[in-house]
Amino acid sequence: MKLTINNQPLELDVEPDMPLLWAIRDHAGLTGTKFGCGMAQCGACTVHVDGQPVRSCITPVASVEGKQVTTIEGATEASTITQALQEAWVHYNVPQCGYCQSGQLMSATALLSSNPAPSDTDIDSFMAGNICRCATYQRIRAAIKRAATQLA
Ligand code: FES
Ligand code: FES
Repeated sequence: MKLTINNQPLELDVEPDMPLLWAIRDHAGLTGTKFGCGMAQCGACTVHVDGQPVRSCITPVASVEGKQVTTIEGATEASTITQALQEAWVHYNVPQCGYCQSGQLMSATALLSSNPAPSDTDIDSFMAGNICRCATYQRIRAAIKRAATQLA
């Protein structure tokens, strides 16, 4: 399969129906994207495909051929939104165990890309699919607001 991940063209020897998550982690070697539930329920595996957040655990790799896949590694390198979120994450010391946080950052990046000044309700609604077992939700919300202010 021919993929473009973080602006890098890659040719991977994988089955077309392999979940994108495995291609990203096991074949492209990008382990920032995490496996949580494997059933589109937790958001740990969130990446962007053509700028839209998707659950890579249920996305067949064939469906992203010819599209731009962005992982947390690429977003933190190239996206000013993700970089502002990272700064805010550090400011509020958001992560606890950290496992869910790359997915949280990818969803938060998608949120601020489409809504630069989200309300609490907007944040809660958009981020509802990203589960954090350490319950860092309050800090995530504060950090998104801080990043939005910094980017304004
Ligand atoms: S691992 Fe994909 S949504 Fe949980
Ligand atoms: S920081 Fe532990 S699951 Fe979110």
